Amino acid sequence: MTLSEQTEPNTHDQTAKCPVDHHTLSTRHIPFVNMHPYSPVTQDEKGVWHVRDYAAVKQILRDHTTLQAGFSSELLKEMPDNKLLSRLPVLFQDGDAHTEQRGQIVRFFTPKTTRTNYQRIMKQYAHEMLAELYEKGSAELSELSMKMAAGVAAQVVGLTNSLRPDMERRLDQFIRNNSLEQSHISRNRIKMWLAEAGNQKRMLQFLLIDVKPAIAARKKRPQQDVISHLIANDYTDTEILVECLTYGTAGMVTTREFIVFATWHLLENGTLREKYLGGNDTERHQILEEILRVDPIVSHLYRRATEDIVITDTITIPAGALIDLHIDAANIDKAVFGENADSPCPMRELPRGVLPPAMSFGDGAHRCPGAYLAIQESDMFLRELLAIPTLKLKSKPTLHYRNSIAGYEVRDFIISVGD
Ligand code: HEM
Repeated sequence: MTLSEQTEPNTHDQTAKCPVDHHTLSTRHIPFVNMHPYSPVTQDEKGVWHVRDYAAVKQILRDHTTLQAGFSSELLKEMPDNKLLSRLPVLFQDGDAHTEQRGQIVRFFTPKTTRTNYQRIMKQYAHEMLAELYEKGSAELSELSMKMAAGVAAQVVGLTNSLRPDMERRLDQFIRNNSLEQSHISRNRIKMWLAEAGNQKRMLQFLLIDVKPAIAARKKRPQQDVISHLIANDYTDTEILVECLTYGTAGMVTTREFIVFATWHLLENGTLREKYLGGNDTERHQILEEILRVDPIVSHLYRRATEDIVITDTITIPAGALIDLHIDAANIDKAVFGENADSPCPMRELPRGVLPPAMSFGDGAHRCPGAYLAIQESDMFLRELLAIPTLKLKSKPTLHYRNSIAGYEVRDFIISVGD
């Protein structure tokens, strides 16, 4: 019996009730690594706790006594002489400072702001990407989806005054060459972080070509975006640069990958594609979130316990422990999602309180503020893309693990629109 069965019994027998033949559905693409289906909470030889059970992952993400420990955040937080960054990016903050920062940025992500400020640009990018695909006849989808995701996130952040085109390429090259391992492995100082993260030249280029001009423009005329908000709060250029890099990873790279994974499932899974194209807004969004549950873009989140965390009568994670939350395992916990939990089913019924994307946007204090935006923009592009009757996948996609997002990227995903 898993912990989820103990805490939140699933009454939804998918195979018995679901009208969809689950044999026709696609299945998860990311590999099943270190899943331990019968050991939902384990400790490894290095002392790291691994949590795979849905209920336990959710409990820890909602626990106010834990600290952010993912995305190399501990490296930055542990620097006592950190003069360059007196304020960390929102993703790395904890406690009151984090709550305050979240309260201030939430306005950039509401459905109303998304409709008013970003809808036009999302449509424009979706059309441009499809026009490029038609013109070329075939394209690497991740390149199109990165342009779309970067273009939209750039509006939110305020990276709209670049001195040269191809901001997404500069950002991606910087993130790609970032050889950082997870924060618990490395113990360097900020210069090392910046150096290893890389490729200082690329970072400098991003600063000079994209970030500084955006800051200068907003100092003259503030706008409704993250950079203007940071300037108003006296952030230094370096602090703004690091926040922009965080958004580049958290918002751009993730959405790029999601669009590719969603296309993959929708091309393979005829039932899903039909329901998606024929669905209303809510139905389409739920299908996209179901795909994101099955193939979460961020496969692992990390937290550091500051107090003992009692999981069950026999399992307590001690204060000070590093916790690896296996989102990829929790999201297909059979006790919650039923049989065939690793297939995206358009009719899946979920127990009360469980959201369709499960933990793919995180949960608790750090839950992704860009979730609504990411689904909207992906939908805008995918609706048009998947409606092309001749759309085909022309290559065998490959998967690579990326430390920067603690998840997988898909490459060699060449699509064509020819006969
Ligand atoms: C499908 C696309 C996306 C996925 C899968 C995703 C996933 C996530 C996850 C799992 C977290 C939580 C990290 C943690 O708990 O440690 C997160 C946080 C965050 N995401 Fe997203 N995200 C996506 C799109 C976006 C977009 C479009 C934006 C903004 C333009 C964005 C901005 C952020 C920010 C700023 C945070 C940090 C929030 C905080 O720490 O309070 N994300 N995202």
